[in-house]
Amino acid sequence: MVGVLAVGTLAAIGCVDERRDEARGSALYALHCASCHGPGGRGDGPNAAGLDPPPGDLTTLARRSGGRFDETAVMMAIDGRRAIAQHGPREMPVWGTVFAAKHEGEPFAAYEPTVDVRAIADHLRTLQQD
Ligand code: HEC
Repeated sequence: MVGVLAVGTLAAIGCVDERRDEARGSALYALHCASCHGPGGRGDGPNAAGLDPPPGDLTTLARRSGGRFDETAVMMAIDGRRAIAQHGPREMPVWGTVFAAKHEGEPFAAYEPTVDVRAIADHLRTLQQD
């Protein structure tokens, strides 16, 4: 169990192959996020029309938080479970729940959702504009 915890924790904090992680993040982004936020994150995906509030421009996350990409805040926004508990429903799906269901029954089911969200956040970091 300790071994499992260590591996999961290391993966979650980033001690994994970075190239594989970037591939994972961009693939997950294309699959789950681009429909609303657009392929480059500008909020111009095909499903964006009609959403109120509109999907955010994810290329300005760092600029809007004082010039620093706040990975923890971005991961919390993606996961969504705390935001829903505190503020009620939102337009965006609650990805923490979606990814938890996706990995249910897998050996590292407790950690894989966090690794998914972290990989996506790392991908979003690469999209930031000054
Ligand atoms: C069904 C459309 C939709 C999809 C799919 C979607 N989002 Fe969103 N997203 C939204 C909307 C709408 C908002 C604005 C806040 C809200 O939910 O009401 C938002 C807000 C956000 C925010 C906060 C933006 C800000 O400006 O602070 C982040 C970060 C984000 N989304 C990331 C993602 C990621 C990563 C994915 C894929 C895992 C994703 N979104 C998929 C619609 C979507």
